[in-house]
Amino acid sequence: MRNSPDGHEEAVRSIASSLRYKPGALLPILHKVQERFGYVPARSLAVIADVLNLSRAEVYGVVSFYHDFRSEPPGEHVIRVCRAESCQAMGAVELVAHIKRKLKLDFGQTSANQRFTLEPVYCLGNCACSPAITIDQEIYGRVTPRRFDDLLAELEGRGG
Ligand code: FES
Repeated sequence: MRNSPDGHEEAVRSIASSLRYKPGALLPILHKVQERFGYVPARSLAVIADVLNLSRAEVYGVVSFYHDFRSEPPGEHVIRVCRAESCQAMGAVELVAHIKRKLKLDFGQTSANQRFTLEPVYCLGNCACSPAITIDQEIYGRVTPRRFDDLLAELEGRGG
């Protein structure tokens, strides 16, 4: 396999090689690749497959099975909304509908201006404060539609 001019292949190979002997190495490798690039680029799959001695289809199957992995670069801000039971029972259904309307996005989509990506998540470990969401690395609990609007306004106000 030839080296890539932008160093992508070397970076992925180095991540995959450093974790290859871990039990169930594929998942930690994919998480590390996503941490590094913000998503799992399609061209990473062949490199990972090569290091783990798997087929590209096997690696692709895992990437597409888990909601955690993105196949496209995310927007500037990633908003994840918990869809698990406790949050559902505490108003997440209404919250999700509101957020989708507000951002004009469905789950798995990124806004045309690359500002937001909306993703579902299944329990953030914050069930006592349902419904819960994350905006980038921050977790927020007891989020009502109104509170979401405030958080969004805050984000816009920070210009971030
Ligand atoms: S169910 Fe939503 S944080 Fe646990």
